[in-house]
Amino acid sequence: MAIYDFRSDTVTLPTPEMMAAVAAARLGDSARGDDPTVAELERLGAALTGKDDALFVPSGTMANLAAVIGHDCRGGEVIVEAGAHIYNSEGGGLSVVAGAVARPVAGRHGVMDPADVAAAIRAGGDAALAQTRLICLENTHTPPAARSCRSTTWRRSARSPRAPGCRSTSTARGYSTPRPISASR
Ligand SMILES: Cc1ncc(COP(=O)(O)O)c(C=O)c1O
Repeated sequence: MAIYDFRSDTVTLPTPEMMAAVAAARLGDSARGDDPTVAELERLGAALTGKDDALFVPSGTMANLAAVIGHDCRGGEVIVEAGAHIYNSEGGGLSVVAGAVARPVAGRHGVMDPADVAAAIRAGGDAALAQTRLICLENTHTPPAARSCRSTTWRRSARSPRAPGCRSTSTARGYSTPRPISASR
């Protein structure tokens, strides 16, 4: 009888075919755009997400951090779902490295109610308050079981949402859409 381990996608191991592909990969200096494998992966990422370009980073934690820093959130608030990975499982990097304050909003299965998000936004007025700089929507959401959410729900959640999430390609496959994480408008 075959036994499958569904505790996490991270407990899976590469197949021999994957290991062979790694060993045979063409390499180069990716900082100079000379790594053909990275360049191909970035082209694929851009095509899948409908963006002009993509940047390879070796971990989801790094991607989330780079995204928050890229939105210049220092001294401001970032609205996150209370169970979000970026809030609970990334070593506090949101505060320590990006200099932002997390504003957790409880959702249902990882999806925040648009009204709750709207109520949590702080904009203008009191200079003593950390202003809302970013709304992070995680798709797929980690607990309880990598749930995914249709981007229309995200669009209703905020004016300018950003949708980080591991397994985004799985989300795309599930919904048969070529633009799985295009909820940036
Ligand atoms: C939603 C989500 N974001 C970020 C991460 C972090 O990814 P990494 O372990 O590659 O840093 C994970 C890991 O499972 C995740 O589920």
